[in-house]
Amino acid sequence: MGDGERGSSIVMGFVLSSVFWLVVGLVVGLWVAAEMIFPALNLTPWLAFGRLRVVHTNGLVFGFTIGGIFACSYYMVEKLTRTPLAFPGLARVQLWLFNAAIALAALSLFAGMNTSKEYAELEWPLDIVVVILWVMFAAIVMGTLLKRREKQMYVSLWFLIACVVTVAVVYILNNLAAPVSLTKSYSVYSGVNDANVQWWFGHNAVASVFTFPILAMFYYFLPKTTGLPIYSHRLSIVAFWSLVFGYLWTGAHHLMLTPVPEWIQTTALAFSIFLIAPSWGSVVNGYYTMNGHWDRMKSNYLAKFFILGITFYGLQTIQGPTQALRTLTGYLHYTEYIPGHVHMGTMGWVTMIICASMYFMAAKIRGREVHSVKLANVNFWLILVGQLLFTAALWVAGIVQGAMWKAVNPDGSLAYSFLDGVAAMYPFWAVRLAGGLLYFAGILVFAYNLYMTSRPAPRTA
Ligand code: HEM
Ligand code: HEM
Repeated sequence: MGDGERGSSIVMGFVLSSVFWLVVGLVVGLWVAAEMIFPALNLTPWLAFGRLRVVHTNGLVFGFTIGGIFACSYYMVEKLTRTPLAFPGLARVQLWLFNAAIALAALSLFAGMNTSKEYAELEWPLDIVVVILWVMFAAIVMGTLLKRREKQMYVSLWFLIACVVTVAVVYILNNLAAPVSLTKSYSVYSGVNDANVQWWFGHNAVASVFTFPILAMFYYFLPKTTGLPIYSHRLSIVAFWSLVFGYLWTGAHHLMLTPVPEWIQTTALAFSIFLIAPSWGSVVNGYYTMNGHWDRMKSNYLAKFFILGITFYGLQTIQGPTQALRTLTGYLHYTEYIPGHVHMGTMGWVTMIICASMYFMAAKIRGREVHSVKLANVNFWLILVGQLLFTAALWVAGIVQGAMWKAVNPDGSLAYSFLDGVAAMYPFWAVRLAGGLLYFAGILVFAYNLYMTSRPAPRTA
């Protein structure tokens, strides 16, 4: 096997693993969404909401998104440096270790082993495995960059470096803990410090998993699929540095109106508003790239994934900063509005970009066209409509919920009990489930179409 073929088989390995974990994570997500309407589905402790929710989030953040990031990073790094992947043997070991780690993570969370820190729920032995996987990733990406034949560093490479460095720093610092047994540990932080470090990690996980590498894919695959050069390299680099600088300060916007010191909250709020500019720097760059060529949204089946994807990113990065404002956070925090925000980002922005990038890579690697453009279009419309139903239902639900919690009678007593608020959510949860099912149908179409595209070409005599 030549260097190029070896790199391609590793990329395809990560593509298929990522899609496998996507399907598993979504089945669990649908179950969790159904449990909120039919609580009797909490059949055993293993199927309790508290356990399944973390299997859903970890499966999709670590299994689907990070698996997709590994696949696309290895593909982009090889192409952008015009150099074969450094340490291909290590990458193969990483592929197996990655799948074993996700399977063990899912099992441990099902079994109720949980540090109780959101997105950092895994217990310490698995944290060590995550660190080993990340060191492998860093060695392969940085090793390839160091021996690159192409001197110019395209913006996607900068975003990948930011991803490698920030995940390492925030993951290790937030997970520092004292083990008391093989399955239990306690964080070295406590009280307000713990909350502050946790959300500094949490928000930068959003940045370095759901933003930097996804932007790297957007900047690389949009020009590749449309044949249009990116509108401005200078703007992309300015947007990159200001985004990376701004993100690091915003974690405490998850802790507004809490005992965290006022100045930390205000700093986080100010930087959250600041982030609109660099985020929109990339949105505008994408739109201007299409300028005069909008017909490609119709003629090129992948262009619409990228443009709708960056549009949801644009909406997300306006919604996020406004959520950080004290008045709005006081109204919306803890309500359904926040999962609405989360799922526009994940089901809109992240899914659209990763799906399109995988279609492109699979077709290129196998040297054929996508199995069915028609199915790719069905895939697009199902995930778009499913996501819109899902998120719009939750935004309205969140506004209703916030209003009910705050409503008071003339004598100052609460107008509604907490249970009244729960009962009012049922119709919205039903729409969320329906939207989730549509989106899931779209993902099944995607998985089939991608599998058919990525079957190895039959050998000819
Ligand atoms: C300018 C950029 C952004 C800002 C300022 C921002 C702001 C916020 C704020 C203030 C919250 C907390 C809401 C609350 O709990 O009351 C939040 C939650 C969240 N955001 Fe964003 N957001 C941004 C972009 C994004 C993007 C692009 C994604 C990608 C999917 C994303 C994913 C999330 C997630 C997963 C949470 C939930 C965290 C949790 O409580 O578990 N955000 N965001
Ligand atoms: C069929 C599609 C999906 C369904 C039915 C679904 C369902 C759910 C449900 C019911 C919750 C719990 C909300 C709560 O606690 O109130 C949740 C949370 C979450 N899901 Fe999904 N989900 C889907 C797709 C996705 C995707 C594609 C991703 C990531 C790539 C994702 C990432 C998350 C995250 C990060 C949270 C935590 C949100 C927070 O703490 O506010 N979900 N999901």
